[in-house]
Amino acid sequence: MNSELNLRPLAIALAAALTAIASTVVVLATALPAHAAEAAVPERPWMDVKLDADRRATLALQAMTQREKLDWVMGWFGSDFRDKKRNPAALPFSAGYIPGTPRLGLPALFETDAGLGVATQATKTPRERTSLPSGLATAATWDRKLAYNGGAMIGAEARASGFNVMLAGGVNLLREPRNGRNFEYAGEDPLLAATMVAQQIKGIQSNHVIATMKHFAVNDQETGRFILDSRIGDVENRMSDLLAFQMVLEQSDPGSVMCAYNRLNGAYACESDYLLNQVLKKDWGYKGYVMSDWGAVHSTVAAANNGLDQESAWEFDKTAYFGVALEEAVANGHVPQARLDNMVFRILRSMFDKGVVDHPVAEGGAIDFAAHGVVSRTDAEDGMVLLKNAGGLLPLKAGAKKIVVIGAHADVGVLAGGGSSLVYPVGGSAVTGIGPASWPGPVVYHPSSPLKAIQARAPGASVVYHDGVDAAAAARAAADADVVLVFAQQWTGESVDAVSLSLPDNQDALIATVAKANPKTVVVLETGGPVLMPWLGQSAAVLQAWYAGTSGGEAIARVLFGEVNPSGRLPATFPAAESQLPRPVLDGDPKDESKRFAVDYREGAAIGYKWFDLKGLKPLFPFGHGLSYTQFAYSGLAASQKDGKLQLRFKVTNTGAVKGKDVPQLYVAPQGAKWEAPKRLAGWDKVELAPGESREVSVTVDPRLLAVYDSGSKSWRIAKGSYKVLLAHSAADANAASINVALEARTFKP
Ligand code: BGC
Repeated sequence: MNSELNLRPLAIALAAALTAIASTVVVLATALPAHAAEAAVPERPWMDVKLDADRRATLALQAMTQREKLDWVMGWFGSDFRDKKRNPAALPFSAGYIPGTPRLGLPALFETDAGLGVATQATKTPRERTSLPSGLATAATWDRKLAYNGGAMIGAEARASGFNVMLAGGVNLLREPRNGRNFEYAGEDPLLAATMVAQQIKGIQSNHVIATMKHFAVNDQETGRFILDSRIGDVENRMSDLLAFQMVLEQSDPGSVMCAYNRLNGAYACESDYLLNQVLKKDWGYKGYVMSDWGAVHSTVAAANNGLDQESAWEFDKTAYFGVALEEAVANGHVPQARLDNMVFRILRSMFDKGVVDHPVAEGGAIDFAAHGVVSRTDAEDGMVLLKNAGGLLPLKAGAKKIVVIGAHADVGVLAGGGSSLVYPVGGSAVTGIGPASWPGPVVYHPSSPLKAIQARAPGASVVYHDGVDAAAAARAAADADVVLVFAQQWTGESVDAVSLSLPDNQDALIATVAKANPKTVVVLETGGPVLMPWLGQSAAVLQAWYAGTSGGEAIARVLFGEVNPSGRLPATFPAAESQLPRPVLDGDPKDESKRFAVDYREGAAIGYKWFDLKGLKPLFPFGHGLSYTQFAYSGLAASQKDGKLQLRFKVTNTGAVKGKDVPQLYVAPQGAKWEAPKRLAGWDKVELAPGESREVSVTVDPRLLAVYDSGSKSWRIAKGSYKVLLAHSAADANAASINVALEARTFKP
């Protein structure tokens, strides 16, 4: 404790002195005559783009002094933090900064959050950028291309803003529907989440910007995130949370991985030999670097030796563990020199590999906000899930005389989630002064008004807004309307979990009262994740719009009016009650972050629909559910096996009257083998079809989805036997087509 305290001022003083020296060197270099400055610059063989990233990193590392190496492994925050002033070299109010080695032509790293776009740390003068809809909304598109396009768009804005590292690529599974960060992630299924997040990462990295897979691993609730110990066995973990991370790595090769705040089976994630050295680097062969989450480092020697490569924003930690303390640990042999070299090598390798060195970033690049708004809108509208549509109330018909829009500030904007991922809208928030003003606030609404977008599409109607605060008054206003649109919201944010799955602020009562006064009530949900719907029987239609992003109002209106046929499918089970969850009550006490506790993930790999299947529970809405304004039929399900891989084929036909997109889903259910749950999602496709049109679809199943992990041999094992393949509209489709396939026993890695 004391030694830690004593090191801190020393580290700050030393770092400040070094920064001063570094800037003096730069000044001197520019002041010297050109030939003298050139003489000081060494040969730079690592700048040869024809060499591969490993070679370039090796060469650059060889040219480095010990001081320069140490600079790469300790990051700085981009804002003032507590008593510490921000490093002036960082981009203002950014997430982080790592000084480069200008002498060697190696640029600094400028880090920004995150998954929805270019975020800004709390300030009155934030960067105003384009926000995608929530990660859960993107996952709900089940559309790989849209996820890629979104990633490419936010990566372009990062580059134009001077950032070359995006802290985006959150793939923590939705184990806990109350998790305050579910909106940043991609749902409950490892295959779906990994596929979508991998596409986002590929899109980001197409801009020569490093993306960051996070938060590694089992950071599945926010309550007590700094102190909780996630307990889960190796087998269960490898077949759930870890499988999602593994698949993301394979499909997108992110330049960095962020280790999480929590402990895993006793060890802090950022000093877990199991997670970082064994699983990530050895078993999966990861070649990039591991950065810590902000404030997730708790040691020098253990963290360095167990696989952490870079301490992020050291100001968040108790001390600068990778500053003077690491320098000394290397000098006295507690951390081998080879380990420090490998830490730096990994960082440099990712920089070369992703193009960060060859394509330097600069602030002030042009951003095409109109085009980016369309990317966001397309993502939002394809992610909207039509949960219920009784009597075909939707799409809204021309000729309505009176439409009443109620609640959730739908007159001016759409809600955003809170925390480090918050992207500040161009022009500022549509609503100010509500909710927490400081972390994880402020509560922001993107200024894309659903009301205005609805008015624009109903020129002959009276479209009026009621704030919904007085439920009885709202019901009176709605009673004689041709259709009522109640907007309901649930703000969630980083560091806090939802206290329950019920909508807050008496909105359930509001919806029930309005729906009683006028049964032609459509509920539009703007929530972070699953919520309960006690009024479901009374409302005619429900549209899950999530946090809809920069163009959310427009996207909602386009779906309501049928300009866009809804095609989102739930990436998470919506429970009928909290008592159905593996943990009916959340572990930990949000008001007391001092008492360490453990969360026993006793459901293991049986997350979401797998848990509901296993326990025979009926959810409110199942995973994979989503309606359309048309219908789709499936036929011809057939299987074949090639090179040990199961291939499935079938035909989808649009049997309705309008064009639409469908998401046929394949699940596999073992008939004899014992899995964590009765079935697993094994694949899907998203297809757009005109009325009457058919398409052949073919899906190859990842063999791990047919296997069980064996810890002893670190391999996957498929048991010989019969497996039922289901072709379904959701995880609870009673009319799913099915065939049986016989699989031979097989053992394989990784
Ligand atoms: C979050 C990370 C984020 C980092 C930097 C942390 O609190 O957990 O997801 O990237 O802050 O803002």
